[in-house]
Amino acid sequence: MTSSNSAPILKSGHLLGIEGLSPIEVTALLDLAESYVIQGRAADKKTALLRGRTLINLFFEASTRTQSSFELAAKRLGADTLNMAVKNSSVSKGETLIDTASTLNAMRPDILVVRHQDAGAAELLSRKLDCSVVNAGDGAHEHPTQALLDALTIRRRRGGFENLVVAICGDILHSRVARSNLRLLAMMGARVRLVAPRTLLPAEADRWGVEIFTDMKAGLASADIVMMLRLQLERMGGAFVPSSREYFRFWGLDRAKLAYAKPGALVMHPGPMNRGVEIASDIADDMDVSLISEQVEMGVAIRMAVLDALSRGLS
Ligand code: NCD
Repeated sequence: MTSSNSAPILKSGHLLGIEGLSPIEVTALLDLAESYVIQGRAADKKTALLRGRTLINLFFEASTRTQSSFELAAKRLGADTLNMAVKNSSVSKGETLIDTASTLNAMRPDILVVRHQDAGAAELLSRKLDCSVVNAGDGAHEHPTQALLDALTIRRRRGGFENLVVAICGDILHSRVARSNLRLLAMMGARVRLVAPRTLLPAEADRWGVEIFTDMKAGLASADIVMMLRLQLERMGGAFVPSSREYFRFWGLDRAKLAYAKPGALVMHPGPMNRGVEIASDIADDMDVSLISEQVEMGVAIRMAVLDALSRGLS
């Protein structure tokens, strides 16, 4: 397979998490993604880098951005793509994760992108299958391409990460986005803060080596980047917050709370957003502060970079 620069980047042959990546690998992926931002803005968005290769998207949980951007990324690199609709598959007849994946494996894909409700699902498949595995979210564990696309968005706006104050706010407990982001940002030299009500902070957060705040005013003070998280009601068995209205009052990002952050602070959200719950609409839609659309664009570029990097190790 040919590539502009064939040096290996993802040495493991998989992308299972930010854990296990080195700052050199992260920087190489971000640099590679820059060329795909340019390609994505050109009239002809397609190359033949992955021609003849097959990518399968296997999503056991709902997804808009992640699944479509992996599909688009693969297509722009010339690969064939298959989206497994789990709802219509034998999974609904009780087939196990391993059996489903083994069936797909027998069709000889080169890359399997998997999203699953259980932490460790992608890692398990990487040990059982012959192809490269990309984790598109496993339970509340990791979502590495989200952290990489967020890092690309931040680096393009702020030039780097060193000493940047990033406040990750909201439902940390259920968020794989928070876990992957804090690993990546801390590794690259940013000062990461978690800002959340106690009920939405995991007990082990004290050992993550980041600053923890339980009120927005102190947590956002002099933040360069305010990263809001979705309140993940579908993962909540009981009542973690009194009501959405009450949550917005104390934890939702509106103009008054954003004013606590550094002047010129930028706002991010991985999507999907609950408007009026964790973020006010006028902030989400304000192109001067909100990077939300940019994050989606960077998502395609990052996934192209990841597929390119993995293709260098394919036989
Ligand atoms: C996130 C996810 O699935 O973890 N979404 C995404 O990939 N952009 C965050 C979320 O669902 O809230």
